[in-house]
Amino acid sequence: KVTMKGLQERIRQEGLILSDTVLKVDSFLNHQVDTELVLQIGQEFKRIFGHQPITKVLTVEASGIQFAMAAGIALEVPFIYAKKKKAVTLSEAVYSAPVHSFTRKEDYLISISQKYLGPEDKVLIVDDFLATGAALVGLVDIVNEAGAQLMGVGCVIEKSFQEGRSLLEDKGVAVHSLARIASMAPGEIRFIDEASS
Ligand code: G4P
Ligand code: NA
Ligand code: NA
Repeated sequence: KVTMKGLQERIRQEGLILSDTVLKVDSFLNHQVDTELVLQIGQEFKRIFGHQPITKVLTVEASGIQFAMAAGIALEVPFIYAKKKKAVTLSEAVYSAPVHSFTRKEDYLISISQKYLGPEDKVLIVDDFLATGAALVGLVDIVNEAGAQLMGVGCVIEKSFQEGRSLLEDKGVAVHSLARIASMAPGEIRFIDEASS
């Protein structure tokens, strides 16, 4: 079973701090993927959110996909990943939202087909990183556009020194992150020591 301490330890041992704000976890979460750990993360999201009648898990391609799938397996519901497109007109019937990427300094659209989300759905949003929150806010907008009910946002790693959590909480969203980083510098990562919240 993944413990929050265990995930923190793994991040300490294998995480590479590339700058004041960028943490690489390519050896076990984001490029090479530890499949057992990811399935355990899915179970943890079930423990946190599973008392609610969730019908769909939602994420954005690409690096949210394995975590959304793990949550979907644990909750026994489908997951959907929003696709990223250049900001051009979309042909099919889609819900879409503009996202500003602060790292790439450009705007793009995320979209999902209207076939797969509607007013009957109760949605859990999942992602790997909670950073600026731009993509997650786009997903929240899509859930609202679909008339679905948002049950919460679950992230694997939160960089609590960035503004994503407060952006989401200002919209009334329940945010739970499995590892919350208060600050980081080469050789030193400080976590906010709470199991989840
Ligand atoms: P975001 O907070 O809405 O994700 O937007 P931001 O512009 O800050 O981040 C751009 C991309 O970089 C996002 O990936 C985000 O998950 C990822 N990211 C942010 N901080 C970190 C970090 O410290 N480490 C790593 N490894 N990634 C980080 P994305 O848009 O989901 O793209 P993709 O990588 O899934 O294709
Ligand atoms: Na990413
Ligand atoms: Na992501």
